[in-house]
Amino acid sequence: MPYGSRLAATMTRRLGRECVYTPSARLALYLALRRWCRPGARILMSPVNDDVILFVVLAAGLRPVMAPVSPWDGNIDPPAVPESTWRNVDAVLTTSLYGMPDRIVELRDRCEQLGIPLLEDAAHAIGTHVDGQPIGTFGKAAAFSLSKHVAGMAGGFLAVEDATTRRELERLRDDLLTPARLRADLSTALRPLARSTIRALHLVRPTWRTMQRLGLLERDPDSYRMTLHAQRLSQSAKEAPSLPAYDPWIRVDLHDYRSRHGRLVRAGLNLRLNLLDENLAHRREGVTLLSATPWASPALRDRAAHDGPLPLFRVPLLVENRDALVDRLVTHGLVTGYLYDPPLDDYAGPDFADPSPDPSPARWFASHVLPADPLLARKVAKSLTREHTKTAHPLTATPPTPSAIPNTTPPAPLGQ
Ligand SMILES: Cc1ncc(COP(=O)(O)O)c(C=O)c1O
Repeated sequence: MPYGSRLAATMTRRLGRECVYTPSARLALYLALRRWCRPGARILMSPVNDDVILFVVLAAGLRPVMAPVSPWDGNIDPPAVPESTWRNVDAVLTTSLYGMPDRIVELRDRCEQLGIPLLEDAAHAIGTHVDGQPIGTFGKAAAFSLSKHVAGMAGGFLAVEDATTRRELERLRDDLLTPARLRADLSTALRPLARSTIRALHLVRPTWRTMQRLGLLERDPDSYRMTLHAQRLSQSAKEAPSLPAYDPWIRVDLHDYRSRHGRLVRAGLNLRLNLLDENLAHRREGVTLLSATPWASPALRDRAAHDGPLPLFRVPLLVENRDALVDRLVTHGLVTGYLYDPPLDDYAGPDFADPSPDPSPARWFASHVLPADPLLARKVAKSLTREHTKTAHPLTATPPTPSAIPNTTPPAPLGQ
């Protein structure tokens, strides 16, 4: 039996695609990039993404090409991508940021026309559908993360089109896995429990502040990004494609990202995956509540009005004075993660990425979005009201028209 095949079978049933289990979404993405892109290839991607993903792309020996994005949801804006850029890319990586779907049908059609692969980073979008089809089934391959919706602190999948490709990728994965260590497995299995205990005992604020003071957080204290270490990064480029050469960047927040976790961790993930439908239902409730607040992005409100609420990983609220607010929210027991500011082209610079032809919408979105956890919707709404939070509006952009919004209604209850 291939490693992780029970988990993979559960995901295959949900998605209707062949799945390879991986210890993380970042490893799944690396496998996809190695399989579908030759070293030196240019890949179009959103600059509003986790910095870890930039390093995964670099580790695969690729040149990241930053796309213009919509200021309403931070996703790639396909009509704003210049024709000259389309002609010069070899692949596209979509993100469906926070679970808000990319304009995936347009991207897929464009990739088909150009004869280039569409790869999906579906880490935030495990329950999102477009025209009745799950995100993660539009491209050649899609990476999912069990550290997001189900908060497993480990685990992921690579979904692919057929069994032959799956077997090929299982072999590629097995070559990259590092042996399990009992101690690491115990800590991976216990971490989700520790996190819920901290929440239940209302210890979020002191725990977070203590971690900040002790320097236990891997990001810069004054930034949402990790330190780039440009010189070291240039040295690593000489070894690309190579995962070990980029390990110091890729492992941030998840040191066991390629560890062959044992049964204990996988059994915990199985339990969590089996509770996913319940989790998605709670997310929809929270999204409904937050969509009705003044801070909801119009993209979110329009979608909810047409198709019902999406089971988002985070709800993109648009707020003034975002950074000060993030700090204040800790005093309410709310720690805001998944802030991707500055955009990756500003962060990495032209040595490591082609900048977007129009970086301003990404800068605006990245500095005004407050990704709110829909499972804590009531607390978020109450805290934002107490803080007299002002809604942010982009100056120049017109709100998205309903026709530009994909139909995100799932065909039937998930998992059937
Ligand atoms: C958009 C996105 N993609 C991929 C990943 C990587 O997921 P994992 O932690 O499972 O490797 C993350 C992690 O936060 C992410 O935010």
